[in-house]
Amino acid sequence: MNESRAMWWANEFLNVEQNELTIAGRNARAVAERDGTPLYVYGRARILQNYETIRRHFVAAGGDLETRISYAAKANPHPRILKLLEGQGAWLDAVSPGEVRTALEAGFPARRILYTGTSVSEDDLKAVFAPDGITVNIDALEQMDLMKEVRDRWFRRRRIRVAVRWNPGLGRGFSPRAVTAGERSADGTPVKFGVEAAKVGRVFGKAARFGFLPVGLHQHLGSGWVREDFPAVKEAVRRMVRKAGVLEQRGFRLEFLDFGGGFGPRFYRTQGLFPAADYIRHIVRTVAKAGLSIKAVAVEPGKALVADAGVLLLRVVYVKKSYGHVIACVNAGTFNTVPRPAVYAQASHEIVNADRVDGPNKVRVTVAGHLCETGDVFGKERLMPMPRRGDILAVLCAGGYSRSMASRYNSRPIPKDLII
Ligand code: LLP
Repeated sequence: MNESRAMWWANEFLNVEQNELTIAGRNARAVAERDGTPLYVYGRARILQNYETIRRHFVAAGGDLETRISYAAKANPHPRILKLLEGQGAWLDAVSPGEVRTALEAGFPARRILYTGTSVSEDDLKAVFAPDGITVNIDALEQMDLMKEVRDRWFRRRRIRVAVRWNPGLGRGFSPRAVTAGERSADGTPVKFGVEAAKVGRVFGKAARFGFLPVGLHQHLGSGWVREDFPAVKEAVRRMVRKAGVLEQRGFRLEFLDFGGGFGPRFYRTQGLFPAADYIRHIVRTVAKAGLSIKAVAVEPGKALVADAGVLLLRVVYVKKSYGHVIACVNAGTFNTVPRPAVYAQASHEIVNADRVDGPNKVRVTVAGHLCETGDVFGKERLMPMPRRGDILAVLCAGGYSRSMASRYNSRPIPKDLII
């Protein structure tokens, strides 16, 4: 493997100096020694750069539609990350009353929050109707009576802004468990999200009749798209714009169309990158061409903003050899730190030895955690220089869906985090 192949991930946030890993210009080992391991390290500048990249895609796409970049807080609801993005004028995608609260505390005005719930309870509705101005995304026709009851009981006469999350009948994601639209996921699971196409008109009609203010149409196909997903994703954009046209003909003048999240960074070297710039151009042009009275288009990136702006630092406690396998045993478990590889068979995170990034005699190394679970493996048989006791390993792309998905399984703590 030549150097550039080995270090395909190098950028302003993560780099290499004298074969040692640097994070935002600091030596990774020095950071690990000062703050201890396991440790998440997030880069402010990288998050801002990711935001700016998407903003520029919209600028490059042209047109005079207002554009909204709505951060999917579920990826990483760290209050300082929320504050940072709020300061850029981002909008916010919240999926629970807890996320709404964190977002408000971080300074997001209610009118820049879209609440997209699923299996929404009375308590959820009470909590998200309370801050006046939040837009509430409707996930089911069957949810609407409850919405009316809660509104009538506690928020009488309030004109609550609502949108409809529809299911366009097709979905895409890196794993069957990350597909959030279509009739069934790739593993056969009936998809629970969104309103099926044939019922969307009824939901809008009922919302208006109930005295809600319908302002938007929303879809989210899934997460972790790769290059090959682009044709299907384009088709879903076409379906959404066509649906908005039908609604407009029926008298529903929508303020915005929200195309959800789904695109993101490269997690592993051979991943074909989804063409985010082309995608955003496609959205802007398709909406403009349709001649609708839409004022704004939105996307809801989670991963694309934060995933590659974070790493997890671990320490090798010893290197075990068993039946010919080299197993680097580390001082943390996946479930408590970067659960994605344990949750999704398809998830893969690059792992770098911060002390010896590259070297001539590479071996296949399995990086295993300290949990009592066979699946507690950060990476299987990765080609890297032979690890040694005390080495610092960095799990890359750990800025999104890592800490936010981490549990205290085996009564282990969730690591500290550091924003630099
Ligand atoms: N909007 C909605 C309504 C969503 O459900 C999601 C993710 C997003 C936006 C953000 O998607 P992103 O841009 O991050 O792909 N935990 C998984 C992914 C499941 C995400 C579900 N919804 C993971 O670790 O990859």
